[in-house]
Order: sequence, then structure tokens, then C-alpha cells
Amino acid sequence: MAKKSLMYNHPKVYDLILKFLHGNSLKERYEIISREIGSNKKVIDVGCGTGKFAQFLDKTCEYNGIDLNEKFAEHAKNKGLNIKTGNLLDEKNYSQCDVTLICDVLHHVIPNDKKLIEICMNISKKTIICEPFTEDGFFNKCGGIFQNSRLFHNLLGEADGVNTFEDMKEWLAHDRDDVIMLLESYGAKRTIIVGGDIIGIIENNGIQQKSGNNKNVILQ
Ligand SMILES: C[S@@+](CC[C@H](N)C(=O)[O-])C[C@H]1O[C@@H](n2cnc3c(N)ncnc32)[C@H](O)[C@@H]1O
Repeated sequence: MAKKSLMYNHPKVYDLILKFLHGNSLKERYEIISREIGSNKKVIDVGCGTGKFAQFLDKTCEYNGIDLNEKFAEHAKNKGLNIKTGNLLDEKNYSQCDVTLICDVLHHVIPNDKKLIEICMNISKKTIICEPFTEDGFFNKCGGIFQNSRLFHNLLGEADGVNTFEDMKEWLAHDRDDVIMLLESYGAKRTIIVGGDIIGIIENNGIQQKSGNNKNVILQ
């Protein structure tokens, strides 16, 4: 398995860096997602990380997370959360649910992004995706130089111990319009911009739920 960077080795450092990078929009994005989920829903947080989102979820909902990072999973379990330590690309790790949440994860699993969405559409009525886009501007361009460096990626960046630098790098070229177009190509009918992220909502009603009509959704 590939090496993890500092933040993927330490759940508390990960949470701090996330807060630093997103500022107030972090809370805002989780609140928007929570409103989109609503109440009394069974939710699977796919690539749940430290389980940060759970604290924003309506208390009537059932929270479940999947992640391969054992330290993150342990940290989330210690908070009393229901976490499966496993690969999110393995359908066996899922059960039927109302909502699947893919937050900050698609850019990690490229080129398996469509496969992940197909799994989620097959097992849930609604899929919510939240992904970052690359912004213009001097400071963002400077940040881009770091993100494009393999050394930075491995030591302090997004090296999650699962996916490769080469695959993840592809996402850095995506600006706001590219990410919106990508989410729409996955089937999102609505997109919401919050800070440097775009949230896309895919309603799977009537076409998914393997147990019902055994139809798998295949993205082109
Ligand atoms: C940027 S973090 C996002 C965490 C969380 N969703 C959030 O919003 O903070 C990406 C997560 O995806 C997980 N991940 C990446 N590839 C995975 C895979 N194939 N199976 C399970 N987890 C994976 C990583 O371990 C990491 O915790």
C-alpha cells in the first residue's frame, strides 16, 4: 500500500488542515448537505475520513461510514460512529440506504469515479457529491504549484495511502465549469457552489435499488 502524508496519518491534523483550508465554508458545506439529506434517512458517508460530517447530520438519521484509512476509522469509531473499514469500490461493503454521500472523495479515486457513482446509484435513492474545483487568482496559482509537486503531495498533501499521485493530479486541472459539467454528466440535476466546492444532487428514484428490479445504472 502507498505511503500516507502527515495529515492522513493523524486524524486530528487532518481535521485541523481541513478547517484551515476551507474556513467558514467547511461548516456551510456540511450544513447544506445535511439539509439536502433531511430527516429519518439511512445515510452512507462514502470515504468518510474522520467522520466529521456526522455531527451535522439530523439526529433522526442513521449514519454509516466506509473508509480504508484504519486510523481515521478508529478515530471515528471512538466518537461512537458506525464505520466499516474497507474499500469503497467494493460493493460488498455497502447495504441499501436512502442517501449516499461522496464528499471530497471522487478526485481521490480517479479513474474509478464512474464505478463509484454506479455503486452508489445502485444502492441508494439519492447521491450527493461534493468536490473541489481549481480557482483562478495569484494565490491559488501558487497553491497549485505545491499541489503539482509529488514531494509536497507525499509529505503534506493528499497522499491517502490508497490512490496514486498521477491519478489524483488529473483533477487539479478542473475549474468550476469543468466540475459542474462533470457532476451533470454523472446525472446531477442541481449543483450548489459553496466556497471552493461544488455540491451535486443526483436523484436515483425509480432507477436504482437492485433489490427492487435488479437494474444496474451504467454511466456512459
Ligand atoms: C479527502 S478525504 C475526505 C473525507 C471526508 N469525506 C470529508 O469530507 O472530510 C478522502 C477519503 O477517502 C478515503 N479513500 C480514498 N480511496 C478510498 C478507497 N478506495 N476505499 C475507501 N476509502 C478511500 C481516504 O482514506 C480519505 O479518508
